[in-house]
Amino acid sequence: MTSTELKIPAHIAIIMDGNGRWAAARGLPRLEGHRAGTENLRQIIRACVELGVKYLTLYAFSTENWGRPKEEVNGLLTILESVIDHELNELNAEGVRIVHVGRLEAMPKKIRQKVCHSMEKTRNNEKLVLNIAWNYGGRDEIVCALQEIVKAGIPAEKINEEVITQHLFTHGSPDPDLIIRTSGEMRVSNFLIWQSAYAEWYFTPTLWPDFNKEELKKAIDNYSHRKRRFGKL
Ligand code: FPP
Repeated sequence: MTSTELKIPAHIAIIMDGNGRWAAARGLPRLEGHRAGTENLRQIIRACVELGVKYLTLYAFSTENWGRPKEEVNGLLTILESVIDHELNELNAEGVRIVHVGRLEAMPKKIRQKVCHSMEKTRNNEKLVLNIAWNYGGRDEIVCALQEIVKAGIPAEKINEEVITQHLFTHGSPDPDLIIRTSGEMRVSNFLIWQSAYAEWYFTPTLWPDFNKEELKKAIDNYSHRKRRFGKL
């Protein structure tokens, strides 16, 4: 199947797994794996824009990742800061809209401000919505949504799936069509647990830093051959 015959998912979400193993295989510290994984994002974001994907959601830091060694947590936060510092102008010029998905308030103030700035600067871009899930947990997201619904005084009989969807961190993005997890792990890991109800999953043994444009096309090709029924016949 050539790229013109591929059925392009409107929304791809990715669990970028395997950075640590990629680094270990080279005798490098884990953070080098995260750096290589971040570098890899360049080609994947560009490929999504080229292929006409409209939403890309990246699982970059989960609510559980705070439990990793301090050095790794701080290193990941530094990576996020540096991506905003060095890549924002180019992403903006390419028409990418950055959206943070997760609880912002737990993040260090300086980074929070930069994240908010990147969202504000790119808010009118329409080529690709780049949802960055940082301090994100699917269960936490549902708790947060319910808290907002209660605070807004929405009566119980008015709460339906639509109302919950509108109060999730991902509001404004459609449900993901295709979720990719690299590195051979076959778990959901608290990622988009509400939104993934009818997503197609694709698992590959390739470690995230090695997941290139060809691998992305392979995943989309695989997705193109699936018959989605959404519970119907
Ligand atoms: C999982 O691999 C990867 C992470 C927990 C971090 C992913 C984050 C990035 C690539 C940074 C992205 C930056 C932006 C701005 C979006 P792992 O460490 O669990 O790998 P392992 O299972 O091999 O140990």
